[in-house]
Amino acid sequence: MHYYNGQKNVIILDHPLLKHKVTIMRKKQTGTNEFRKMVEEIAVLMGYEALKDLPLEDVEVETPIEKCKSPVIAGKKLAIVPILRAGLGMVNGILELVPTAKVGHIGLYRDKNTHEPHEYYCKLPSNIDQRLVILTDPMLATGGSGIAAVDFVKKYGGKKIKFLCIIAAPEGLEALAAAHPDIEIYCAQVDRCLNESKYICPGLGDAGDRIFGTK
Ligand code: PRP
Ligand code: URA
Repeated sequence: MHYYNGQKNVIILDHPLLKHKVTIMRKKQTGTNEFRKMVEEIAVLMGYEALKDLPLEDVEVETPIEKCKSPVIAGKKLAIVPILRAGLGMVNGILELVPTAKVGHIGLYRDKNTHEPHEYYCKLPSNIDQRLVILTDPMLATGGSGIAAVDFVKKYGGKKIKFLCIIAAPEGLEALAAAHPDIEIYCAQVDRCLNESKYICPGLGDAGDRIFGTK
């Protein structure tokens, strides 16, 4: 891993398995089934890294040999919050790691012409202020959707927030980190730039359409 432009809250994951799976996602011949599988597998690998500072507490257990103290994850459970639709593809990967996590949803779509995010559905788990919130979205393009989603979580009391995206444009990473310098952003790949339609280049096209098989 390395920090983007030396910023300690923007973590770029360099694991070769992530790079390999991103390449499979990029290919236009990759079908819905395999694309979805890659998104989920990448979410497991990214979640493993992003959750490495979860607090632990000791509990007493009895092994077949003797009693001992052994650590478990402490405190309130996680809230995984996908940005609809494409963020949904990453949820099961994180649930593999933390099956007891609660799941919220933030529905946003980007206007085709203005590229501004529009909210259409939002529901968060209770006690969001006491939970680590993992926001998921495979794509961070202009950063508009990511910024709006973090705004929403904070409005409802969220304090500790990590944002997981698979591919980011430099523009989006910089905009999200500037708007919300108190969150951690994890990213598997920083691409070159946005095109005039605000798609990531080279990117992988429309992540929602590729996950759900729509056009
Ligand atoms: C895509 C993507 C992000 C957003 C990124 O969603 O999944 O949410 O665009 O773009 P931005 O950084 O410029 O805001 P989209 O609006 O296409 O909705 P969908 O997931 O329902 O297809
Ligand atoms: N949303 C996507 O799904 N892909 C992009 O390249 C940009 C926004």
